[in-house]
Order: sequence, then structure tokens, then C-alpha cells
Amino acid sequence: MVKICCLGAGYVGGPTMAVIALKCPDVEVVVVDISSNRINAWNSETLPIYEPGLDDVVKQCRGRNLFFSTDIEKHIAEADIIFVSVNTPTKTRGLGAGKAADLTYWESAARMIADVAKSDKVVVEKSTVPVKTAEAIEKILTHNSKGINFQILSNPEFLAEGTAIKDLFNPDRVLIGGRETPEGKAAVQKLKEVYAHWVPEDRILTTNLWSAELSKLAANAFLAQRISSVNAISALCEATGANVSEVAYAVGTDSRIGPKFLNASVGFGGSCFQKDILNLVYICECNGLPEVANYWKQVIKINDYQKSRFVNRVVSSMFNTVANKKIAVLGFAFKKDTGDTRETPAIDVCKGLLGDKAKISIYDPQVTEDQIQRDLAMNKFDWDHPLHLQPMSPTAVKQVTVTWDAYEATKDAHGVCILTEWDEFKNLDYAKIYDGMQKPAFIFDGRNIVDTEKLREIGFIVYSIGKPLDAWLKDMPAVA
Ligand code: NAD
Ligand code: UDX
Repeated sequence: MVKICCLGAGYVGGPTMAVIALKCPDVEVVVVDISSNRINAWNSETLPIYEPGLDDVVKQCRGRNLFFSTDIEKHIAEADIIFVSVNTPTKTRGLGAGKAADLTYWESAARMIADVAKSDKVVVEKSTVPVKTAEAIEKILTHNSKGINFQILSNPEFLAEGTAIKDLFNPDRVLIGGRETPEGKAAVQKLKEVYAHWVPEDRILTTNLWSAELSKLAANAFLAQRISSVNAISALCEATGANVSEVAYAVGTDSRIGPKFLNASVGFGGSCFQKDILNLVYICECNGLPEVANYWKQVIKINDYQKSRFVNRVVSSMFNTVANKKIAVLGFAFKKDTGDTRETPAIDVCKGLLGDKAKISIYDPQVTEDQIQRDLAMNKFDWDHPLHLQPMSPTAVKQVTVTWDAYEATKDAHGVCILTEWDEFKNLDYAKIYDGMQKPAFIFDGRNIVDTEKLREIGFIVYSIGKPLDAWLKDMPAVA
């Protein structure tokens, strides 16, 4: 029986390994982590992450050929294939701070493998890493290896949160990069055989190591670039009376462009896009390519612009001040169908409104008060370090309250900001919400999910990203 060990039981390690275990009953999969809280949760009835379909997959194979453990050394020693799926955050200090990937967790994982391994191993980079990381890892492993043969593969993960199980069941492609030596090719084949249990062979792409590592950064940069492109156009739509949904549809029907990933929004969030583009920018700078670095930097600049443009629109619409006004925030997660708040645009929007002394009342169906308070108290880039996965007690931001009910959040509010596209926000009783609010009552739809015309009929002043503006908003132009 092939034995797999995965280091890192997070958003990638957990679901990915659960699906491998489900699809490969002849493979034993053990997911290990330095966080005992996380492992305990994976072994409990309440999994540490919310992901549609995940509970079902875990229930089918946990205890059969899927295990979660903190005994890292034992399972590394026993495994044939070791996936490393630890976090690779943006560095917060030192050389490359604010851009470069912090490989501390990756390096300590590699050192642990080198210390503990007693037989040959295939080591798979599952985390997103800078190009050439495999070379560094190879050096750590072979320098300490006592004659053991380590083969390093790059097998980046392309799942998106909220649709992780669907994406893993039916991936557009699985990418495996390896050394072009006989041993390297054999290792690629070994990993290919795992995926071939359920992924059609023509969707398993093999490349050299550096192409695989770079393809992951490039794919995320391209995806984020589409959002920044449509968001940039949304600002021009508001200035000219064009409608961004119509423009995106017209542009996306060109088969060379395609219709997906063109929804204008308050900005992209999530743990990957910003981190990976910053990483790409740093790699370009280190390789003497400042023009290329500046090109990609602009994707993040437009994203920051979009978030601050939204805050400015809220404040300017409400007579240029939100001081002591209650603003309801519907949705805090970075997208629907996840409880993940890493780099969610809601953090920047809330901080912007708090800067103008607003009182904020937040409702999200999956995010706890503790998480929201922690996010609002944390410094940029601190979120992705394991210390912060442990409980801590930040000083609660006093002007922020968190409720479990959209109607309570909006009661007596002057304005409502929709920051996540949860389906339930489409079907709220907006007439009831309007009745409970201060007048004039404003809705700022950061995800373009509500029926603007219906809300205007109820009496709301409505702002939707990139849509023709109400007369009210035209009279109070936001300063970008
Ligand atoms: P995560 O923070 O949810 O999980 C990482 C886990 O690794 C944590 O539980 C941490 O305790 C653990 N860990 C750290 N050092 C360890 C060690 N030495 N041994 C064992 N466990 C250790 O992160 P994630 O979202 O799962 O992302 C992991 C990697 O995958 C990152 O490089 C990320 O860029 C990449 N990725 C993420 C996504 C996504 O949607 N979240 C998608 C594709 C790729
Ligand atoms: C992304 C990539 O899609 C995935 O392939 C990679 O493995 C990890 O990073 P994820 O961040 O989980 O996945 O979600 P994604 O669906 O890409 O959304 C990212 C952000 O962009 C969200 O905040 C989302 O709301 C926003 N978005 C997405 C838009 O604003 N408009 C769109 O059209 C699409």
C-alpha cells in the first residue's frame, strides 16, 4: 500500500488529502500539523474549515484510509510520498519584507523530513512557492540525507475555496513538475498514478520543476488581473453612465476572452492573490526585471484603489461623514461559501469606515465575532503565521458589534454595505430592512447581487459597483 503523509492540515492539505483518500482506497493518507487544535478539529464532528461537501468526503474515509495526527515524525518516516502544504506567507520583516515569500515553515518542514527519513522519499511541493524553491529544498534534504534518495516534485494546487471539493473532483488540470532525470521521471510517474485514479490522463500535465512552480504564480496573477481589469473599468462606468455588467458581458462573449471571472466587486480577497502577486513582483525585481515587476504591481494597486473608492463612496454619499452613524456590514468572508476571512476586502472597508468614526454592525453566516475582532486588530500580513492560528485575545474594537442576524445588524442603521455575495443576501426582506433604518437609507452593494431597481422602488438610495449612479450619488461625487 502506498503511504502518503501531508504536512499542513489547512485549507489545501485537508480537502486535497481527503479527496485523494476517497478516490484511492488503496492508498493510506495521513495529514499532520504542528497545531494540535487543528488536528483535534479534523478528528471531531466540527471540521476546522467550512467547505461545501467536505464533511461528507471526510466522513466516508476518516479512520479507513484517512487519518489526522500530530505525530509528524512517525508519519514522515513511514511515508513513500510526502506532500508539503504548509503556509508560505508574505515576509513581515527583513529582506524583501512586504513582498517576498517567508519560507520559514517550508524550511522547517524540509529539515524535519531530512532528520527523520530513513528510506527514499518523493517530496511534493503543494504549497505555492517562489520559482527555484525546489532547488533550495533539494539542498537541505541532500545535505543531511545520509544516502537517502529524495526526489522533489512541484504539484501546485489550483482549487478555489467554496468550491474546493468540486474543483478537486473535476480539476481543469493537475500539474506535476519534476527533474528530467530517470529518477525524476519515475517520481513524476508515481505521483501521476495517484491522480490517475480519477483524473483523466490528458488533464495531468507534466513539466520541468521551474515551469510548474512559475505556472502557479502566473495563473493566480492572470486571474487577479482579470478582476482588477474589470474593476478599473467599473470606475470608468460610474463616471460615464455605462453599466459594468453589460460591458463585462459584451467583452466576455469574445471567445478569446471568455465570460468567467469578470464580476466587478469591492475588490478581490483571499489568502492567495495578493500574496502570490507580491511574491511574483519580488522575483521579477530580484531577476533584474523592474518593468515586469511594475506591470504586476499595478494589479494590486487597482485592488487597493477599488476598496478605498468604495469607502469614499460610502462616506461622501452620507454628507461626507459617517461619524457615530451605524453602518451595517453584510458579509465578512472573502467570498461566499467559506468562513475564510484572510485578506477579505471587508477588513479594509471596515477599517476605512472606522477611520471615519462609524459604528459598524456586522453579520456573516459563517464568521464568528472572535474572528472578526481578531482580523480588525491584526497588522497587515500577520494573519498567515501559525502563532495567529492559536487563540489570542485582541482588544475588541469598541465601535464594532457582530450579530447572527441580518435584520438586527441593519436595525437603525444609516447605511448597509454588502461585502460578500452570500446567496441569502439576495432574498432578504429589504422592505422590512428599509422600515427599520434611519432615513435616507443607503445600500452600497459591493458585489452587485441585489436588484437595484426594486430597492430604489422601496425608497433606498442604492450604489452598485460600476452601475449608473442615482441622482443623489451624482450630486455627491466620491473623491477617489
Ligand atoms: P493554512 O494556513 O490553512 O494551512 C497551513 C498549515 O500548515 C497550518 O495549519 C500550519 O499549522 C501548518 N504548518 C506550518 N508549518 C508546519 C510544519 N512544519 N509541519 C506541519 N504543519 C505545519 O494554509 P493553506 O490555505 O492551506 O495554504 C497552504 C499553501 O497552499 C500556501 O502556500 C498557499 O499559498 C497554497 N494554496 C492555498 C490555496 C487556498 O485556497 N487556500 C489554494 C492553492 C494553494
Ligand atoms: C484563488 C484561485 O481561483 C485558485 O485557483 C487558487 O488555487 C487559489 O486562489 P480563491 O482565492 O479561493 O482561489 O477564490 P477565487 O474564487 O479565486 O476568488 C478570489 C477573490 O476574487 C474573492 O474575493 C472573489 O470574491 C473575488 N472575485 C472573483 C471577484 O471579485 N470577481 C470575480 O469575477 C471573481
